[in-house]
Amino acid sequence: MAKGFFISKTLGIVGIALGLAALATIIALSVVYSQLKQQTDNAAPGPSTATTTTTTTSTSGIPGPSTTTTSGIPGPSTTTTSGIPGPSTTPTPENPWNKWRLPSTLRPESYTISLQPFLKPNDQGLYVFHGNSSVRFLCQNATDLILIHSKKLNYTAPQVSLTGVNGAPTPNISSISEEKETEYLVVQLSSQLQANQQYELHTSFTGELADDLAGFYRSEYQEDGQAKVVATTQMQAADARKAFPCFDEPAMKATFALTLIHPPDHVALSNMPANRTENVTINNEVWTRTVFEPTLKMSTYLLAFIVSQFEAVKTYQNSTLIQIWGRPKAIREGQGEYALNVTGPILSFFERHYNTAYPLDKSDQVALPDFNAGAMENWGLVTYRENALLFDPLYSSIGNKERVVTVIAHELAHQWFGNLVTLAWWNDLWLNEGFASYVEYLGADAAEPTWNIKDLLVTNDMYRVMAVDALVSSHPLSFREAEIQTPAQISEVFDSIAYNKGASVLRMLSEFLTEERFKRGLQSYLHTFAYGNTVYSDLWEHLQMAVDEDQFYLPGTIENIMNRWTLQMGFPVLSVDTRLGSVSQRHFLLDPNSTVQRPSEFNYTWIVPVSWMTSDNQTGTYWLQETSDTNGNFSTASEPGKWLICNINVTGYFRVNYDQENWDRLLGQLGSNHQVIPVLNRAQLIDDAFNLARANYTSTELALNTTRYLSLETDYLPWDTALSNLGYFKLMFDRSEVYGPMKKYIRKQVAPLFEHFRNLTQNWITVPSGLMDQYNEISAISTPALFGIPGMITPPQPAVAHLLHCHCPGRRRPGTGWEMFQKATVEVRGASSETCRLFGHRYLKYTLDPSKIRRQDATSTINSIARNVHGQSLVWDFVRANWKTLFSQYGGGSFSFASLIQAVTQRFSSEFELQQLEQFQKDNADVGFGSGTRAVEQALEKTKANIKWVAENQAAVLQWFQRESQ
Ligand SMILES: *[C@@H]1O[C@H](CO)[C@@H](O)[C@H](O)[C@H]1NC(C)=O
Ligand SMILES: *[C@@H]1O[C@H](CO)[C@@H](O)[C@H](O)[C@H]1NC(C)=O
Ligand SMILES: *[C@@H]1O[C@H](CO)[C@@H](O)[C@H](O)[C@H]1NC(C)=O
Ligand SMILES: *[C@@H]1O[C@H](CO)[C@@H](O)[C@H](O)[C@H]1NC(C)=O
Ligand SMILES: [Zn+2]
Repeated sequence: MAKGFFISKTLGIVGIALGLAALATIIALSVVYSQLKQQTDNAAPGPSTATTTTTTTSTSGIPGPSTTTTSGIPGPSTTTTSGIPGPSTTPTPENPWNKWRLPSTLRPESYTISLQPFLKPNDQGLYVFHGNSSVRFLCQNATDLILIHSKKLNYTAPQVSLTGVNGAPTPNISSISEEKETEYLVVQLSSQLQANQQYELHTSFTGELADDLAGFYRSEYQEDGQAKVVATTQMQAADARKAFPCFDEPAMKATFALTLIHPPDHVALSNMPANRTENVTINNEVWTRTVFEPTLKMSTYLLAFIVSQFEAVKTYQNSTLIQIWGRPKAIREGQGEYALNVTGPILSFFERHYNTAYPLDKSDQVALPDFNAGAMENWGLVTYRENALLFDPLYSSIGNKERVVTVIAHELAHQWFGNLVTLAWWNDLWLNEGFASYVEYLGADAAEPTWNIKDLLVTNDMYRVMAVDALVSSHPLSFREAEIQTPAQISEVFDSIAYNKGASVLRMLSEFLTEERFKRGLQSYLHTFAYGNTVYSDLWEHLQMAVDEDQFYLPGTIENIMNRWTLQMGFPVLSVDTRLGSVSQRHFLLDPNSTVQRPSEFNYTWIVPVSWMTSDNQTGTYWLQETSDTNGNFSTASEPGKWLICNINVTGYFRVNYDQENWDRLLGQLGSNHQVIPVLNRAQLIDDAFNLARANYTSTELALNTTRYLSLETDYLPWDTALSNLGYFKLMFDRSEVYGPMKKYIRKQVAPLFEHFRNLTQNWITVPSGLMDQYNEISAISTPALFGIPGMITPPQPAVAHLLHCHCPGRRRPGTGWEMFQKATVEVRGASSETCRLFGHRYLKYTLDPSKIRRQDATSTINSIARNVHGQSLVWDFVRANWKTLFSQYGGGSFSFASLIQAVTQRFSSEFELQQLEQFQKDNADVGFGSGTRAVEQALEKTKANIKWVAENQAAVLQWFQRESQ
């Protein structure tokens, strides 16, 4: 899956947009204000009606073996308010059906499935689908019990039957029941199934085609004033069981022969191409039956099928058919062209990278109006949010383009790594997602070779996740299998540690092995385990073979080295003393007084690959294996003025501190000729210094000093790093006396950058050529607006138009169900206190009403309001008052709670706020926080650290800004 809300990349892009949005708001405020005022006057009824439209209905299961429902309609539906079963509920362990994991007695081999979604509501006003499914399985150990996953399915006549294959005697079914909590259909037999015999289980059922973004679900959009319904799927992690009964674990691979029965004016898509379509008459209605080729052997979570009136653009890459699907209007406007153009080159890149042909005949990619995650890598039928696949040449920005190409590369990377070879269980998810999050940059670079996009991993993934991984509430990349059992626990592993730390650590591994050697090991892994399942150490083993092949030196086995990075949380800070030539490591904790509760068998020490360079162009690599060491050639004592910098291009996942003299020389170099230091290392000096200061390794003054050279800097990465670190100062101080001098200083530093881009773009007429330059142009213009700097030269109107057309991320054409979300994000964000109060309330209410703001956009709307200094308290009140509603509406399988909590609490820096947060945690302990559980812990920890930091630093920071803004 591509990253959802919680991830940094989206936030990064949103961060860029933030300032620009504020600028647009300032310029257009009067217009906006009057428009909004008008809308307020016409506003729909308040929130009370909106909050009750919860759609999670669970259809009643099978009452008992004797009862058969013949109606084919789910019975009187009961509305569940509880959402997902919390991780705390431990069922009694004795019965197999009270365990979360399937027993190993049965192994599925093939499924034959037929599904008929109804795209109009039935008499009860429900959207439903009918289904028949047969699964052939091998009995591995004799048993009289068939356990198969099933969720919210209603079994209908002829209900459930069993047949033996090849004359295997067929036991009678003695009872059928449903285990709601663990989501099983439990079939008890009167005698045993025999080992090494095959059987088939046949079922008929109906399910609800709800708009809950999970399993087989419904998405709606408007076209030419008409409501259109799409039936589509999201199976990952554990919702295939909501579409048909199945052995719903990733290691239970099988083949799937699917048939969809759908209206003749709709098109049906699935993982495989259609073998044939034919018209059939059912209850006097004509339907089309689309029969798909059987799939290759694959996991249930990678299945997908869609019935829609979408249209496509297509092309061929060698013999692979590539199609980009979306709403007919969007496709006719050419919004699929960019995706179409980059898909072929990315597929070819991965074929070379993996040395393995793309395993399927076709690659369909579909843009869906309602989609929870960013995208989903279903084998051969990848699904996306519209803004992750469609690119509107008239309205989209370079940021949209970057998102499209990286998300496509991410999902296509999974077609081999993840789909062809699959991790056996969700505890190893980090390897699947970390890997795709790393190579997405390589794939995107192949499609856009002039962008230097690979450098963005450092700021988008690594620095962002380090902020989380430096807390004692972090967790190791790797979980034990037994730790991840319930669907809620599974959905919680999809976090930024898995994606961003996973990506950073794999990049480090690839860099110290060299990419060529890494690729050799990877290819051997894929060839060995094709169509099978693995655990993460299988990859280490194959990389080790590549290392052994040419006797490449490493200070230990790959497993030895990598265990330090995957089995313990956090990362080291290296302290390099160039006077003594010594280097030592320590677990980097943002709050140096916090206590690590989680034990580590390695005592929080790492085996660290250190590359370095000096002012006289010496370079080298060195492995730090001890707590401290003096064998690293790090002494510059005999050469006055010489500086040393470690972690070239920030390939290692760690931070570096130096003695003050070396810092002084590095900062001196930045001030005289900064280009001598690689651009990623300029960003590193800033980010390390700020974080080291937060953790009391260095002074805040040193951190602020790293920004003094920025008046000479025109590259994006150092600016981006500086602005995000100064963003923390803004959060802490924008309600204090520090803010005035701080704004003045930023104005002074950004003015030359502004001039640089004014010249480069001939007074904002032309567009800079590179991706980084375009991003930095946004920084140059949006920073003054973001900081609310009065009197800062704003570009004339046409330039704003040009920026909005070319850069403003997330811009979409009118009429795409996006307006309200966009208004909320753009207009509230930079707004003044009154405007914010006036409209923030309303938008917040709308987030509880899917007809106003789509569910998929709800959390990001709330988050963007929270980013406004005035909106923050509104949102906090709102979240506290509505947590239970939010949780029940979005609880199941939604990944956005973590970002919601993070956004709401990011300014917290007072005892009062800490108390409120603790109260919030207590008050909602009963419903819990789902995927936001850890985020609440992190927020508490961060708030405490903020309180301390502000108390200790406010005076010095004020003084520094006063001095430097002169
Ligand atoms: C459809 O399936 C049949 C039977 O397996 C096969 O012979 C035929 O080639 C398939 N047709 C297409 C278009 O794939
Ligand atoms: C270091 O290398 C760069 C480019 O390779 C060169 O311009 C510079 O003069 C060198 N500096 C020293 C001190 O050798
Ligand atoms: C560091 O990264 C830059 C791109 O930012 C690249 O051109 C350069 O070759 C890299 N240096 C090393 C030593 O890998
Ligand atoms: C910061 O820069 C100022 C001005 O150059 C200097 O006087 C001061 O010593 C520096 N402080 C640190 C800690 O680097
Ligand atoms: Zn993914």
